[in-house]
Amino acid sequence: MAYPYQIKSLEEYQQNYQQSVMDPEGFWANVADHFYWRRKWDKVLEWNFKDPDVKWFTGGKLNITENCLDRHLGTLGNTPAIIWEPNDPEERHRVITYRDLYNKVCQFANVLKNNGVKKGDRVCIYMGMIPELAIAVLACARIGAIHSVVFGGFSAQSIADRIQDAQASLVITCDGAFRGNKDIPLKSVIDDALIGCPSVKKVIVCTRTRTPVSMIKGRDLWWEDEIKQVETMGNPPCPAEEMDAEDMLFILYTSGSTGKPKGVVHTCGGYMVYANYTFVNTFQYQPGEVYFCTADVGWITGHSYIIYGPLSAGATTLMFEGVPTYPDAGRLWSIVDKFRVNILYTAPTAIRSLMGYGLGPVNHKDLSSLKKLGSVGEPINEEAWHWFKDHIGKGRCPIVDTWWQTETGGIMITPIAGITKEKPGYATLPLPGIQPILVDEKGEEIKGNNVNGNLCIKFPWPGMLRTTYGDHERCRTTYFATYDNLYFTGDGCLRDEDGYYRITGRVDDVLNVSGHRIGTAEVENAINMHAGVVESAVVGYPHDIKGQGIYAYVITERQTHDPELTKKDILQTVSRIIGPIAKPDKIQFVSGLPKTRSGKIMRRILRKIAEGELDNLGDTSTLLDPAVVEEIKRSRL
Ligand code: WT7
Repeated sequence: MAYPYQIKSLEEYQQNYQQSVMDPEGFWANVADHFYWRRKWDKVLEWNFKDPDVKWFTGGKLNITENCLDRHLGTLGNTPAIIWEPNDPEERHRVITYRDLYNKVCQFANVLKNNGVKKGDRVCIYMGMIPELAIAVLACARIGAIHSVVFGGFSAQSIADRIQDAQASLVITCDGAFRGNKDIPLKSVIDDALIGCPSVKKVIVCTRTRTPVSMIKGRDLWWEDEIKQVETMGNPPCPAEEMDAEDMLFILYTSGSTGKPKGVVHTCGGYMVYANYTFVNTFQYQPGEVYFCTADVGWITGHSYIIYGPLSAGATTLMFEGVPTYPDAGRLWSIVDKFRVNILYTAPTAIRSLMGYGLGPVNHKDLSSLKKLGSVGEPINEEAWHWFKDHIGKGRCPIVDTWWQTETGGIMITPIAGITKEKPGYATLPLPGIQPILVDEKGEEIKGNNVNGNLCIKFPWPGMLRTTYGDHERCRTTYFATYDNLYFTGDGCLRDEDGYYRITGRVDDVLNVSGHRIGTAEVENAINMHAGVVESAVVGYPHDIKGQGIYAYVITERQTHDPELTKKDILQTVSRIIGPIAKPDKIQFVSGLPKTRSGKIMRRILRKIAEGELDNLGDTSTLLDPAVVEEIKRSRL
């Protein structure tokens, strides 16, 4: 498969960029033309950022799975679509060709149909990183059901919240999931979650770990039994449901500055075009290359760059079940060696953690197949960037530091591998089609170079979110109301003397812990569920490996006689309410919190203390009780 819209030189980048600004509709129509549409669109774009109301390719009819599967069968039928590497290196890997994947997706799509799932229904997917997860996702898309994948690290409570918000009617899960030396009892977590979820009528359970599970009569079904039924029916084909370009494809929940995660909604046509365009261009994918993204499908990176981007491009995508440090810190490099991986896309937190093991785990691995490297999820520090460049890429491979968000659907600001310049710590330049702008507090544009501001986008792009599920007003206030006529990213950003962008981190109350997005309010709510807690305040602080760590200031009802035990108890509460990823790294018991006279917590001060900047707290005279700051400083962890 050739990609006519793949940028091949610096000049072409500049030309395309100019064109995309002067004639965005013409630009995107040219890209969209290279997909399979049942019916071509009437209009490329209709939009306003006020409501917001953004529609791409209206009138267009398509099914994303016909673009990911059917259209490749003639030429790529025997080409590996997914290479799957299990958690345990001793277990056999699997290679699933485009034809196999097509058959399996159709089969499972028929299972969903047999169980009453229809176009527009919401299906919650809570599985480990096995091929059946990709199959489940694509099977939903095949019949027009809206998938909502929930990361395997979330607790029963978090899943229940997401299922209820989406009113999902069916859940797809596994008996368990292998991750490193852990065996996560997914089905048992689902059983707990479903106690309060009457919308769920069926649960399909795929066998992976053979962990004993309890199956509820009339509700729970085995994946394998259901497949057998379809086989008995003679494996009928499953025609793809014809979808409107603006029909919902999926919901993915993400954290914001309030306590409740929001369901980011992506639609079929624009998302498909954008995931593919950004994949093909950023990584300069060439037919035959083996591409490995280490993300989990539970996050947007897995949706766009393990499943939809690569598969719509006919690429070979490697899916890894385990973690980079199991059975040892050389695992990623062994996988690169074993499958002759050409493109490796990973996260700064993984690089930093592996750096800590030195070069031993790297040394005897053959990494000569690598051609391109990528980073995503958080700012990459220069030390990690250089280590990645020198010791993994052996100085030969470009690194793309890709900035984007769940809400943007795909990569926005990034070098183009081997074509545009890279700069350690910088996401560098916007892809053609993307118009970033920096603004000050009042929303005035900050022009010129060598400036700092809040990062916004001033023109729509096909992959952007359309709404937050069931609450459009929340979408408006979160992203489109801070500044008139701009999409606000929530990130601070620097534009250097050459016009290159460097993301400096969130400017709202959202933390980025090991690339996972967590709202401080969510963690506070969870801590406050503990019976002994009166109040809490959570801030982020710099952490060597995680990027940001979680620092919690907690007021308890009475002096605890065993503070360590109380801490453990609080951690367990957070684990139960949100999941282990949200556990604070530090808990400091305090007798009060610095508040303004109107009762607002002064997080700025707490952040400074957590960072260890004790002499530089700024004006504390407006505080209700300035003495509390001294106490917090004295007992700082
Ligand atoms: C937030 C979005 C993008 C998929 C994974 C995370 C931060 C993301 C970078 C980068 C600096 C980055 C931003 C952004 N972020 N990529 N290359 N450099 N920061 O998606 O969970 O929606 O988080 O991650 O702060 O707003 P997400």
